[in-house]
Amino acid sequence: MASNEPKSALITGCSDDGIGSALAIAFQKRGYTVFACLRNPKKATSLSALPNVTITTLDVTSPPSIAAAEEVVRTRTGGRLDVLINNAGQTFSAPLLDSDLDAGRKLFEVNFWGAIAMVQAFAPMLVKAKGVVVNISSMGAIVNYPYIGLSASSKAALSLASETLKLELQPLGVRTITLMAGMVKTKIHDNVPEVALPENSYYQPVEDKVKATTAVEGNMVKWQTPVQQFADEVVEDILKGSEGLVYKGGMSSVLRWSKMLLPTWMMVGILETLHSELLAKHCLGTWTQSKCGSWCARRSFQ
Ligand SMILES: NC(=O)c1ccc[n+]([C@@H]2O[C@H](COP(=O)([O-])OP(=O)(O)OC[C@H]3O[C@@H](n4cnc5c(N)ncnc54)[C@H](OP(=O)(O)O)[C@@H]3O)[C@@H](O)[C@H]2O)c1
Repeated sequence: MASNEPKSALITGCSDDGIGSALAIAFQKRGYTVFACLRNPKKATSLSALPNVTITTLDVTSPPSIAAAEEVVRTRTGGRLDVLINNAGQTFSAPLLDSDLDAGRKLFEVNFWGAIAMVQAFAPMLVKAKGVVVNISSMGAIVNYPYIGLSASSKAALSLASETLKLELQPLGVRTITLMAGMVKTKIHDNVPEVALPENSYYQPVEDKVKATTAVEGNMVKWQTPVQQFADEVVEDILKGSEGLVYKGGMSSVLRWSKMLLPTWMMVGILETLHSELLAKHCLGTWTQSKCGSWCARRSFQ
């Protein structure tokens, strides 16, 4: 492809009102040829009329689907890709003791393995274009917080792989950004599967708190960054040549610096204070004491 051809960006998980869709709009505004990928193209209504945006069906957990998307991009760009954004992601909330392991494995398939598979499939085009990979991780990856253990772990795994990838792709001329996303106003929480705790769960008395973990309510709403603002800021960072860990979105700076400067016990204390209702420590501790004896309850919950 001649060097005056428009640059290209592929973004996964571009359903309406989400980060992926907003990133697609941000790149389209900057003159990029955009491959807006998603599982269900009917969910791309905000993108379908935009020039230079190709809506591409893609499930990041399906190798044939990835291969088909790779062929679309290769044919259209002559085998180059300037920007790959691994944005597709899912979340769920449940105590680790009660988490359905198959559901957890599926979560890792999307959040972790899907991103790695995409990088492997598109590496030749990224190397040819001396492009950039952006992996959308989460501040949840660095803050231990109850009832989102599997989602957070999948993002922590992605962050570490992404930072490793940075070192492995640098010699090939490809940049890698690990985007530590804070709170962004999207519908992600509407997409969280309903929590159903087993009858014998230790957490039955606080089931409502578990369910509320991934809800954004009350004061928290004001911490969310509007999705298009978030996407525009991310694209600015990509275009100015950032590399490695980049922090964007509501509360990301506060959490980043708190994590760096404060001892862990103080971080946990602050989170407990902010969300003491959700942690429900004393309530759960009291209930557990009555069920299995005070020693185990004190050891576990005090
Ligand atoms: N919003 C936040 O506050 C926040 C904070 C930290 C990190 N993040 C991360 O940002 C990314 C985007 O989230 P969002 O807030 O924009 O949520 P969202 O609107 O729910 O977007 C998630 C996207 O991922 C897609 N997806 C799920 N499974 C997939 C699969 N197997 N293959 C391909 N696509 C798949 C979804 O498709 P369907 O519509 O078909 O389900 C949807 O397009 C996620 O990785 C999320 O973890 C978000």
